[in-house]
Amino acid sequence: MIQTSKRLEGIGEYYFSQKLREIDELNKTGKQVINLGIGSPDLPPHPEVVRVLQEEAAKPGNHGYQSYKGSFILRKAISEWYKKWYEVDINPDSEILPLIGSKEGIMHICMTFLDKADEVLVPNPGYPTYRSAVKLAGGKTRDYALRAGNHFEPDFEQLKKKNLQKVKMMFINYPHMPTGQLPSKELFEKAVAFAREYNILIVHDNPYSFILNDSPMSLLSVHGAMDVAIELNSLSKSHNMAGWRVGMLCGSKQRVDEVLKFKSNMDSGMFLPVQLAAARALSLGKEWQEEVNKVYRQRREKVEEMLKLLNCKYSKQQAGLFMWAQVPGSRKDGYELSDEVLHEAAVFITPGGIFGNAGNKYIRVSLCAPVEKITEAIDRIRNLGKK
Ligand SMILES: Cc1ncc(COP(=O)(O)O)c(C=O)c1O
Repeated sequence: MIQTSKRLEGIGEYYFSQKLREIDELNKTGKQVINLGIGSPDLPPHPEVVRVLQEEAAKPGNHGYQSYKGSFILRKAISEWYKKWYEVDINPDSEILPLIGSKEGIMHICMTFLDKADEVLVPNPGYPTYRSAVKLAGGKTRDYALRAGNHFEPDFEQLKKKNLQKVKMMFINYPHMPTGQLPSKELFEKAVAFAREYNILIVHDNPYSFILNDSPMSLLSVHGAMDVAIELNSLSKSHNMAGWRVGMLCGSKQRVDEVLKFKSNMDSGMFLPVQLAAARALSLGKEWQEEVNKVYRQRREKVEEMLKLLNCKYSKQQAGLFMWAQVPGSRKDGYELSDEVLHEAAVFITPGGIFGNAGNKYIRVSLCAPVEKITEAIDRIRNLGKK
């Protein structure tokens, strides 16, 4: 018998990969489930981006291995993008590492910085990958709760009362997934001060700053952040390029070199035409973001209609690709509501509990489906009420 490694113990299959199989089975029985679960943009990238990819892919010289640090053209585009949108100066030669998505960066950072006894503060609710990456790297997670009463922000004063001696890293993520909470400058300043006082490396995961948000913000805009923080960013959501797998890590030269030491042993630089097309995407102007957000705003209105029908409570000030909503008191939890809606109305919405137990009483609805689909989902749910 071949056994899997100990490091896989306690790591479940990613929730969505399991759930998509269940949805497939339902579809085979003719259900045609409307999937409002996953945050994979259904809109295409800008046509110019696709054109660059096609043209560059047709060139015979563009198919070789690429530099581990990525093409300078992409790093320069990232640096200019940070300057233009976040007013942050980052050196394209030394302070940027292109990634195959932000998700890979989370794993690389954990492998680079964690040893067995090291602890990592992770948000609850939060993106499940933080938790699994820490465990896979051999570290230990310590949850910090995010509550509606505290604007889904970490309670730093509460954290300071705990023994933080073994804490080496802290993941934060604003605009926050799944709650949609926007950051404030004060929040970022508090995070940087906390990191400095307790000698903790902050990893800020920032893939949602352009979605339904007029003021994108980077943690690196806070004075002194470069000394104590790394920021991950991505084109997956902001440029409708989730399948392309293009992200980035920004931080001091020392941090970038440390992560590169690990990453360069795992893979090589991305396919050059993808990097060049990504650089083109990053050069797009305000019109692009406005166009994308116009669509999401219409969808959000529809999703609000659905949430009202389900008697869920929600904040209207949410950014990102989802709506986060509290299930009514009559429901045991979000799992119960999600299962009922899936099996009775053939609509999939995500139970908030998969993001940590602080999300148990919530559901998350994706905005990555056309208005017509959301309208159809509402009709199905309305009919359910009449049964
Ligand atoms: C908070 C958060 N971070 C990172 C990612 C992954 O992004 P990427 O496609 O850049 O790997 C996601 C994707 O759903 C996410 O929600």
